Amino acid sequence: MRDLSSILLEWYDIHARPMPWRTSPADKLAGVRPDPYRVWLSEVMLQQTTVAAVKDYFNRFTTRWPTVSDLAAAQDGDVMGEWAGLGYYARARNLLKCARAVVADHNGVFPADHTALLKLPGIGPYTAASLSSIAYDLRHVVVDGNVERVMARLYDIHSPLPASKPELTAKAEALTPNTRTGDYAQAVMDLGATICTPKSPACGICPWRAPCAARKAGTALELPKKTPKKPKPTRHGTVYLAQRVDGAWLLERRPDKGLLGGMLGWPGSDWVDTSEPRPVGMPPVTGEWQVVGTEVRHTFTHFHLILTVMTAEAKADTNGYFLGPEDFRSSDLPTVMRKAFDLVQP
Ligand code: ADE
Repeated sequence: MRDLSSILLEWYDIHARPMPWRTSPADKLAGVRPDPYRVWLSEVMLQQTTVAAVKDYFNRFTTRWPTVSDLAAAQDGDVMGEWAGLGYYARARNLLKCARAVVADHNGVFPADHTALLKLPGIGPYTAASLSSIAYDLRHVVVDGNVERVMARLYDIHSPLPASKPELTAKAEALTPNTRTGDYAQAVMDLGATICTPKSPACGICPWRAPCAARKAGTALELPKKTPKKPKPTRHGTVYLAQRVDGAWLLERRPDKGLLGGMLGWPGSDWVDTSEPRPVGMPPVTGEWQVVGTEVRHTFTHFHLILTVMTAEAKADTNGYFLGPEDFRSSDLPTVMRKAFDLVQP
């Protein structure tokens, strides 16, 4: 049998999904080089986020900041505002740090060197490998959830994730060809996203159906096995939405460190583990505070959050970080804060 990577690359030449950051196999053949800035931005956005959710954000970012130098010169608040809704906000803070480091230390060009890439802020093993291979065709192995699933099935590996990660990575590494490593990396991801899907794999049309061990064993649907995660605790808190008579809202810029760091938000209490939900904390300004009938529910990586929403009209002379209709866009809020705002909209 021909080697597995050639079979998959032939499939990719026909079936590569068009994406705004991707250089198609035909364009690459014609000598077009991928833009490392666009590859980097897309790979950072795609961590923990689907292609469908990323596309609009990617297009807005690259329209507003077409090069890494443009992004490096942006205001922090503008970048956090454009990122709002994508989640995992540390990625956005590191994005800016990284863009500024590329400009300051590398003349505005991402280094074509895996070790140098790893030294940049926010670039870990996954991003360094994807940028090395996709932008520069260096031989580095990209392993995401798609690749893990494809490897577990191709080799019928039943040991559960995350413990099986090194074994799956070794399989992916062994299959990676010496040329076209960027196309190959994206081909495995596309295979996982479109054919070797979690719940209904289309084995009949898979380019790897002949060599696939799980297909032979009839185990594809069970794989990859996963060690059950610990249940998430539920935390409670209160947010205070105060609007002044001139229409301005009282907001705060959250501290850079920690959850939702650097994002805009409503003043509020700490979020505490408690079995009896009740308003906690102190309103930020005086007013006739009312509890909104519906709570906000939101799930973060490590916990569920239930927020009591309180609202009041603030007097015309109330001071604080008030943003008027010109300066406040609810789309600048992270999703949990946006949910609270949507509850008080008529
Ligand atoms: N997921 C993350 N990066 C990707 C890419 N370059 N192509 C397809 N899926 C991806």
